[in-house]
Amino acid sequence: MCGIVGYTGGRQAAPVILDGLTKLEYRGYDSAGIAVSNKSGNIDIVKAKGKLQVLCKVTHNGENLDGFCGIGHTRWATHGEPSENNAHPHCNEDNTIVAVHNGIIENYVPLKEKLIRRGYKFYSETDTEVATKLVDYYYKKYNDPLRALTEFALHARGSYALAVLYKDYPGEIFAIRKDSPMVVGYTDGGAYLASDVPAILKYTRNVYYTDNYEISRLSANGVKFYNLDREETEKQPSVITWDAEAAEKGGFEHFMLKEIHEQPDVVRNTLNCFVRDGEIDFGELNLSDEDFKNFDSVIITGCGSAYHVGVVAQYVIEDLARIPVRVEIASEYRYRNPVLTGKELLVVISQSGETADSLAALREMSAKGIKSLAVVNVVGSSIARAADAVFYTKAGPEISVATTKAYSAQLIAVYLLALKLAKVRKTITENRYKGFLKELATLPEKISGILGNKSEIQKFASEMMDRKDVFFIGRGIDYATCIESSLKLKEISYIHSEAYAAGELKHGTISLIENGTLVLGILTQNSLVEKTISNLKETESRGAYVAVLATEDVAGIPANFRKLFSLPGVDGHFSASIAVVVMQLFAYFLSVLRGNDVDKPRNLAKSVTVE
Ligand code: AGP
Ligand code: GLU
Repeated sequence: MCGIVGYTGGRQAAPVILDGLTKLEYRGYDSAGIAVSNKSGNIDIVKAKGKLQVLCKVTHNGENLDGFCGIGHTRWATHGEPSENNAHPHCNEDNTIVAVHNGIIENYVPLKEKLIRRGYKFYSETDTEVATKLVDYYYKKYNDPLRALTEFALHARGSYALAVLYKDYPGEIFAIRKDSPMVVGYTDGGAYLASDVPAILKYTRNVYYTDNYEISRLSANGVKFYNLDREETEKQPSVITWDAEAAEKGGFEHFMLKEIHEQPDVVRNTLNCFVRDGEIDFGELNLSDEDFKNFDSVIITGCGSAYHVGVVAQYVIEDLARIPVRVEIASEYRYRNPVLTGKELLVVISQSGETADSLAALREMSAKGIKSLAVVNVVGSSIARAADAVFYTKAGPEISVATTKAYSAQLIAVYLLALKLAKVRKTITENRYKGFLKELATLPEKISGILGNKSEIQKFASEMMDRKDVFFIGRGIDYATCIESSLKLKEISYIHSEAYAAGELKHGTISLIENGTLVLGILTQNSLVEKTISNLKETESRGAYVAVLATEDVAGIPANFRKLFSLPGVDGHFSASIAVVVMQLFAYFLSVLRGNDVDKPRNLAKSVTVE
């Protein structure tokens, strides 16, 4: 997820690597490390928690690491807290194989168990140490550096860009990737490896984009590529024509757009980490089936979009698991004196894991003896550390202030929680349970379908760009999507908007509807759409311009309502996951059209660590 840089050639490697890593800082990271093979052929490793400057300081900008071949890494922890011990590079026992890794090895637990049975010992909590020792195992077995990587690829599941130094092959870097980016560059001066182009743009514009399961072998004399049969392959370099800033965003105009586009992968990654062979595996969570049986209610708390995920969760969990759910705004809940039985499960949702109000609510409840589960994106964050159990969403670092991919990953977390509770409490049949898991697996493709047709949303946004007020209305889960859509719009387009439960509008707020006010109806809940359509008509007869976001199978939409987008059919419990993507894009395009600073909207901060 974060940064890898490798270099071998005529220069001292460490300064080149550290310089490259600084170009990847925008990706977010929590620790960094570097490995260089020195004159005597040994591999020196230096790691540091925190900013790259700390690593630069410890190594005197790389000057006290002598050697011409090395690899470096900025880590964004997914397995094990950010610490010097968990930072990369990782090594085998005699330090003859050293590796850095971006991504997640999903089956690291069984692999680790297997290696332990074969006598391996582990010093860190990371999946990467397991990957490194797996390579070591196969290297010792076959005595072939390429074979060790192909065997690794055959046995490891998940996503990886893995770069390896073998002491037996001084001056060479070996790498393999799957679903994590990796580029290779070559000049007369040497060969470069990086997880993203900006790291090496200063040295070369000729790069090779490596494919899944392709092995790269770098030396001062050139670069070679191999397939899984260890046959050398021919590859054409590409010439980079972008500037460094565009390269950081992977060619997207803004981080927000890049992150919106990452959602199919994020949803897939989060599902793959917790669903195995058609079964939810909460082994990582430290909560037993017995715990799930014994809770008498669920309290969900968070702020902003995280709170909105809680609102979706309330509908889904109550419907599927038949357990009472309350959703509470953290800044209010922390000062309440709630009535508790002591058998509640508190779920705290937070991307950053540092939001002051959410942390305070968690602490208040923990002090009262309530068991807590944090749904958090940042590993080792304060909320993750304070909770009894942690569900890490696998969204990767989110740079844009307006959350998109973390929200989508949080939705997956609460769906899985709902299904787990339902299964353990026997409120749904095994068939329905399996059916829901299958349905969840279709979400990435459906989200990709929306992203592929985003020009329709862009067109709608351009028609709406001068509106002063927007109302989002819907019922049930559509109401939950409305509140998130409205927040997204306000945050980055600065257009005033309100979200209302469709039936509530006429109890006062409908007086604000004037000629041309945009009212957006979300219609994905089959049993409720008729009612929402009636509410939309009520606003239309008072002058509103009505547009709808509906699933393709919804019938009875009046012909004069503007259709914003036709959503692919999806089980109603999970429709927020696809409807929200359209609304994220709607807000995004309006923000761009109005010339706003999309990624850093005025008055806002990414992580709100004050009350
Ligand atoms: C969402 O776009 C906002 N930036 C904001 O509402 C955010 O969701 C809220 O501040 C909570 O942050 P957290 O998830 O890091 O706790
Ligand atoms: N999963 C690995 C870890 O937690 C790699 C994380 C990364 O991509 O930075 O160490």
